[in-house]
Amino acid sequence: MQTKLVAPSLLAADFGNLQRDIELVNKSEADWFHIDIMDGVFVPNISYGMPVLKAMAKHANKPLDVHLMIVDPDRYIKTFASLGADNLSVHLEACTHLHRTLQAIKAEGMKAGVALNPHTSVSLLQDTIQDIDLVCLMSVNPGFGGQSFIENTYAKISALKDLIIQKNASTLIEIDGGVSGKNAKKLVETGADVLVAGSFVFGSDNPTETISKLKEEIA
Ligand code: DX5
Ligand code: ZN
Repeated sequence: MQTKLVAPSLLAADFGNLQRDIELVNKSEADWFHIDIMDGVFVPNISYGMPVLKAMAKHANKPLDVHLMIVDPDRYIKTFASLGADNLSVHLEACTHLHRTLQAIKAEGMKAGVALNPHTSVSLLQDTIQDIDLVCLMSVNPGFGGQSFIENTYAKISALKDLIIQKNASTLIEIDGGVSGKNAKKLVETGADVLVAGSFVFGSDNPTETISKLKEEIA
C-alpha cells in the first residue's frame, strides 16, 4: 500500500511566529505543507497572498501543497510556480475550462490538483480524472479552519476511488477540513491518501507529537 501523507495547514499556524511553526513542520513527520490562498470572493474570507507565500517557501523544506480558493485561478498559475508551489489545486467551481487549466499547471512543472466543494459531485471529474494528480475533497465549506467534518465525505471518497480505479488513473485523494484523530483512520480506510489538518495540529499542546500520532494512526 502507498504511504499515506499528512499535510499540516499553515492557516492554523501562529502568524506572529510563522518561521517557528514552519521549522516545527520541517522537523516533524509531516509530508507536505498545505497552504490556503483565499481571495474574499470565491470564499468569504481572505487568508494571505504572494509575499507571505514567498516567506513560507524560503523556510519550508517539504513540498508546498497550495490550495487556491480564488476566482479565475488561471491568472496566477505562473506566479505560484515561480513562488515554489509543488502542487497547485484549483476549485472545479472556479474553472470554466478545467482541462486547459490543468494543462497550464502541468506546463509550469507543478502537480495539478482539483478541489471540490462539499456540494460538488465527484462524477463531474469523469472526463478529466486521468489528467488530475490530486483531488482535494473539501470536508467542510472552504474559507475557515476549525469547522466540523461533513460525514458525507466518506461516500464521496468511495465514489472517487471507484472512478480512479475504473479509469485506471493514479490520482491521489486528499481530504481537507475537520480532520482529526477521530476520523483519520476511517478516512484512509475509505480511500484517502493525504490528510490536511490545521486546527487539530496547531491547536494541540504539542503539534510535533500530534503529527506523529496522525501518521501512526494512518500507517
Ligand atoms: C479551509 C481550508 C483548510 C483549513 C483546514 O477552507 O481549505 O485547509 O485550513 O482547517 P481545519 O483542519 O482546522 O479544518
Ligand atoms: Zn485547504
